[in-house]
Amino acid sequence: MAPPTRLRKTLLAVVAAGTLVAGLLGTPGTSQAAGTGPCDIYASGGTPCVAAHSTTRALFGSYGGSLYQVRRASDNATRDIGVLAAGGTANAATQDTFCANTSCLITIIYDQTSRHNNLTQAPPGGFQGPAAGGYDNLADAKAAPITVGGQKAYGVYVAAGTGYRNNNTNGIATGDQPEGMYAIFDGTHYNGGCCFDYGNAERNSRDNGNGTMEAIYFGNIKVWGYGTGNGPWIMADLENGLFSGVNAGYNANDPTISHRFLTAVVKGEPNHWAIRGGNAQSGGLSTFYNGARPNVSGYNPMKKEGAIILGIGGDNSHGSAGTFYEGVMTSGYPSDATENSVQANINAAGYSTSGSGGGPVVTPGSTVSLRATTACCTTRYIAHSGSTVSTQVVSSSSSATDKANASWIVRAGLSNGSCVSLESRNTSGSYLRHQNYQLRLAANDGTSLFAQDATFCPQAGRNGQGNSFASVNFPDRFIRHYSNNVYIASNGGSNTFDSANAWTDDVSWVLTSPWTP
Ligand code: AHR
Repeated sequence: MAPPTRLRKTLLAVVAAGTLVAGLLGTPGTSQAAGTGPCDIYASGGTPCVAAHSTTRALFGSYGGSLYQVRRASDNATRDIGVLAAGGTANAATQDTFCANTSCLITIIYDQTSRHNNLTQAPPGGFQGPAAGGYDNLADAKAAPITVGGQKAYGVYVAAGTGYRNNNTNGIATGDQPEGMYAIFDGTHYNGGCCFDYGNAERNSRDNGNGTMEAIYFGNIKVWGYGTGNGPWIMADLENGLFSGVNAGYNANDPTISHRFLTAVVKGEPNHWAIRGGNAQSGGLSTFYNGARPNVSGYNPMKKEGAIILGIGGDNSHGSAGTFYEGVMTSGYPSDATENSVQANINAAGYSTSGSGGGPVVTPGSTVSLRATTACCTTRYIAHSGSTVSTQVVSSSSSATDKANASWIVRAGLSNGSCVSLESRNTSGSYLRHQNYQLRLAANDGTSLFAQDATFCPQAGRNGQGNSFASVNFPDRFIRHYSNNVYIASNGGSNTFDSANAWTDDVSWVLTSPWTP
């Protein structure tokens, strides 16, 4: 191993000092000083970042530049979104002001290293994207609000058809060169389309054969590899194969993993690679594979091409969905110890769905009414009439029945106590549930299917107002009104009610005092 440079010695000292301070303060999970980012840790381990992307925070302790750029629909103007302070979290207020009363797309995710490996709208390749010229769609800048260290920030919400790429990179591994990468995803947002990836891919956006990619994959597609349970799984996309271990199909050590904030790691060097993962909010990383290249021809040696993709497959397959918060790629094969320190840094960053950007707390036991936030419909509330559920205009002059029909008792989620179920105020024992993706009121029949269909996980409203409610068993789908009916809808899915138009508004609900307490 090369002797430490002065810079590396300094960084090692900073990390050591951080460990001491954290120990004195007794802060769990912190092992770096304030001012140390994941890329400082990779550098101190001898495997520096050659790409660093995040819309939520700086990934170097000294980074004070732009994180990403947004473009608003009202006048097509663009605005760079920076950090609150060097090394800190995104200045989400800049976006909120710039994008107020209009929609915004994320146009550039800046590389925080000096290599300018920015990610922009992915061009057509083996597959044409849905946007003009065969490009992929850009992400809705407001669709993934969270908090980091108590500060509001936004992730990159990838609906099917969305993709980012850089085919003209600098310093990314090629051939069989060693590299590492991690990304933080929303472990509850995934699908079975190909392929929600972050990492190394082909420079011509086409399938150039086995071994021409090395990217982190997250989702539950089973066309290639898979692990235990029903997924989602962290796998490596090595081209013409998502690998969960040495075998082409099933590997028993790759678990279903779905932490709300998920750290996913893939790394590779000559005839050796690994998959690791863990909860980005607390605890360490587990190793799900560490061994030789797959026992299928074409993957040893690797033929990496060094482009970077986000949200798509190497050939621009774009059927996938997921949410990305941050990720890096390194030069050299990082040690497990280096990655463990990065994971401690991630824990300490404080990713959360609560706090100022995480949406109001939805308290079991309270009675509420749910008001639509789309401009057309702000006097309408989720209401039932018998078993039929729709949005209805309710006012102080409405009948007592109409008021009660629009009032709901928040219960701990029938299938997941961290989420909620909504019991009718005037039909005890009956809950809002989805069936064929439409909401209706039905008596709890005690089955586990009912419990799941009646459980919704609140998070910050996708348009910044109130709350959005993800279906627990279809986590890509949220309670949405469409033509005054109420559904669980994905953003841009195949049903009419999945329309991307006004989706963020239609899935955002303000919980008001109940019309019937
Ligand atoms: O390896 C899985 C996928 O196969 C790749 O992402 C894509 O390029 C090809 O279709």
